[in-house]
Amino acid sequence: MEESLSVNHLLGIKEITYEDIQLIFRTADNFKTVINRPIKRVPTLRDITIANIFFENSTRTRVSFELAEKRLSADVVNFASSSSSVTKGETLIDTVNNILAMKVDMVVMRHPAPGAAIFLAKNTDTQVINAGDGTHEHPTQALLDAFSIREKLGEVKGKKIAIVGDIMHSRVAISNIFCLQKLGAEVMVCGPATLIPKHIEHLGVKVEYNLKKALEWCDVANMLRIQLERQDIKYFPTLREYTMQYGLNRKILESLGKEITIMHPGPINRGVEITSDVADHSQSIILDQVENGVAIRMAVLYLLAMKRA
Ligand code: CP
Repeated sequence: MEESLSVNHLLGIKEITYEDIQLIFRTADNFKTVINRPIKRVPTLRDITIANIFFENSTRTRVSFELAEKRLSADVVNFASSSSSVTKGETLIDTVNNILAMKVDMVVMRHPAPGAAIFLAKNTDTQVINAGDGTHEHPTQALLDAFSIREKLGEVKGKKIAIVGDIMHSRVAISNIFCLQKLGAEVMVCGPATLIPKHIEHLGVKVEYNLKKALEWCDVANMLRIQLERQDIKYFPTLREYTMQYGLNRKILESLGKEITIMHPGPINRGVEITSDVADHSQSIILDQVENGVAIRMAVLYLLAMKRA
């Protein structure tokens, strides 16, 4: 019997199993071969229509999903809330049901509200892929991050990953914690106390407030952006002081006496959480993460489409 996912939607890493993640990785391995061939398109999702509905800005995720869908020969419609009737007061469910009435099969949605993807899956008759919902989850980002660690270091199990920065407002951090732990990695979060949620150690992560110590501990450092757009109060005095305490620069990197892998989900604020020379360093796999995003999203779309009756 052909292997299949345990879920009909991809709403978060919390809802999927170790076996699901391994199946997505094996499928992405195959698609990565496909997208590196001169003819990158396969007919796998011909006759499937996918709507990408983005209620929040995005570069990587939106372009990556659209490319993944086109490489699989799906029909694609893109929808941005700023140019839609949402601005006239239409609800999320009405908006999506109107799109579905035009015979759309799957919805990829980014939304500023935590839980928006779960709400949509419960209240509409379509397959939903969460492309980031507020501070809740960003499952395909975590999958592509773990896939990139596996590609670089051979496996994720037993590896030590430090997630550094604005943990409090980061869906990437939460999805990465769930994904890396399911794969058997050790996870540490590092940042100012004001940007680390209270009791996060209950998720089984280590907490470190000193960047140098976190870097000395880890095999991989995943540097996160300060999400000023989600901050309603000041969590640290100034960006300059944040950079002095938590910015990764070449001097710290070279003082470690060992090679660590540098990651960043993007968008990067060069000179704030990471200097340009570190972002572009040979130890950085930031652009590999972006490349792998297309193969991972092809795998997720394909495996979910296979679940359709
Ligand atoms: N990593 C990520 O989600 O980037 P975008 O906001 O550009 O999609």
